Amino acid sequence: MVDYANLIDKALQAKKHAYVPYSNLHVGAALLCDDGTIFTGVNIENVSYGATNCAERTAIFKAVSEGKRNFLAIAVVSDMDRLIYPCGICRQVLAEFMVPLVVVSNQSGDYKVYSTDTLLPNAFTDFDS
Ligand code: THU
Repeated sequence: MVDYANLIDKALQAKKHAYVPYSNLHVGAALLCDDGTIFTGVNIENVSYGATNCAERTAIFKAVSEGKRNFLAIAVVSDMDRLIYPCGICRQVLAEFMVPLVVVSNQSGDYKVYSTDTLLPNAFTDFDS
């Protein structure tokens, strides 16, 4: 059973570290591994906007680079009063690492839970060469 409120809280704490000189939108993510460890991430922007890394991918890349491969859920929060949904690139990365659940929250902790399959139906997952 995933403690959604705790995961959201970790994401809310993390978002203060967001590097957002261009959008000023602080985004935080918290990724729960199957061993109970949690990796947080923030969005890290760049003057060349396309080089920006979203909070979700930061959390996933931190975890994978520390040897984690099995995930239970990711929470994502921002400064906004409404829920924040992962971008298309992040959805593809969520599919790659089979993060099954995405908890989208506002800054008050109101949330909804989606399966990654719902957010990215018919994901591109493999190919024949
Ligand atoms: N952003 C995220 O970090 N995660 C999302 O789910 C959506 C958007 C960031 C990217 C950029 O730094 C800022 O939010 C505005 O697009």
